Amino acid sequence: MTSVTETLTVRDNRTGLEYEVPIIDGTIRAADIGKIREGEEAPGLAVYDPGFVNTASCRSAITYIDGDKGILEYRGYPIEQLAEKSNFLEVAYLLVHGSLPSKAEYEQWVHNITYHTFVHENVKGFMQGFRYDAHPMGMLMASVGALSTFYPESRHISDADNRNIQIVRMIAKMPTLGAWAFRHAQGKPYVYPDNELSYSENFLSMLFKMSESKYAADPRIAKALDVLFILHADHEQNCSTNAVRSVGSSQVDPYSAVAAGIGALYGPLHGGANEAVLRMLKRIGTKDNIPAFIEGVKAGNERLMGFGHRVYKNYDPRAKIIKKACDDVFEVTGVNPLLEIAQELEKIALEDEYFVKRKLYPNVDFYSGLIYEALQFPPEMFTVLFAIGRTPGWLAQWLELVQDKEQKIARPKQIYTGERQLAYSAPEERWA
Ligand code: CMC
Repeated sequence: MTSVTETLTVRDNRTGLEYEVPIIDGTIRAADIGKIREGEEAPGLAVYDPGFVNTASCRSAITYIDGDKGILEYRGYPIEQLAEKSNFLEVAYLLVHGSLPSKAEYEQWVHNITYHTFVHENVKGFMQGFRYDAHPMGMLMASVGALSTFYPESRHISDADNRNIQIVRMIAKMPTLGAWAFRHAQGKPYVYPDNELSYSENFLSMLFKMSESKYAADPRIAKALDVLFILHADHEQNCSTNAVRSVGSSQVDPYSAVAAGIGALYGPLHGGANEAVLRMLKRIGTKDNIPAFIEGVKAGNERLMGFGHRVYKNYDPRAKIIKKACDDVFEVTGVNPLLEIAQELEKIALEDEYFVKRKLYPNVDFYSGLIYEALQFPPEMFTVLFAIGRTPGWLAQWLELVQDKEQKIARPKQIYTGERQLAYSAPEERWA
């Protein structure tokens, strides 16, 4: 893949000078472009790329995406195989450690994560201090950040054992914090983890257990939730992962870095699209209203939410798997009446020239909201579920970052557009 024999010749028409820039892995180094100057004292040429649309910020061996072909792989394993045959904790191990675990490694990993599901009792007191209507993502972000004060040794990020224990803690405690944020809004008592249950069964127990001595989740629901966590586990350099890496590049502890990732995911352009899909389906209401809705989309009045993706120009592989999970969940909960509208919308859109020409296909969010609603989650919880699933991915990316000798503190350049060298006058002169 790497070839230093490939180069790019750049001619600077300001000076007439030519530069030969190496092409490595399909990229050129921004630092090489920086060597291009108008004169000895002049600043080097820089690239302007708001939103990092065409800028690689790191080398990574975690997740591979081919958007044109609709391929997603974690550490080389296709997402379809992992969703069908693996489970979330094994996938978390794969992402963090880079390869599938042996039996002994797997058992130790599951034991460690199960053992660390409880949080310090003061975390509970801290969470109970939130207002009755606090958004669960705000509560999750704050409580993950607060964990850094409970584990101050987590700032020793160059110690491998220390890093590993924080990673285990965070994967273990995320469902506890997420479930407590959910219970808080309902005024229900927080439920402690049940370490005899699997990861997703325990999460369901902390969400829904009332007075029964043991909560027994329907295995089909527990499996569907596990699959949803797998599908959200990583997605290379998306907005929240970039936030984790950017904040982590200051060498802060991993709780603070992941809290930043949760903040990024909180935003409607990132984690909030499935909620928008639900609102859209409810507004359409019946199949008869679909043609008028589609005409409105084609006229540019609004977007078909849950369709299209910056990277996937084909069917999002995660959407295919979620569609199958819908069947399993609805077998237990009864069919969400909005499913019929979603399926009809998809059928029409996949045949319509507007969507075909623009390569607009269903993405991961088109069906996930329907499942979450059927599981009785309020829309504010959808992003919390996403965050729990994404945690191993954030941590794997953080681990890769802190071990990558090429990485530096993230510090982009800017193009300054403001005033210069203004003469200051004191308030009494300006206001006179
Ligand atoms: N409905 C109707 N038209 C669309 C849609 C849509 N959902 N998405 C894109 N288009 C059109 C757009 O109007 C443009 O048409 P034209 O060339 O005539 O101007 C063309 O397709 C290209 O769109 P774009 O906005 O340049 O594409 P983008 O890569 O910047 O946007 C997107 C990607 C996901 C923001 C966009 O497709 C969108 O807004 N989709 C709906 C929201 C959504 O479902 N978001 C969830 C993304 S998956 C979450 C994740 O992976 O984390």
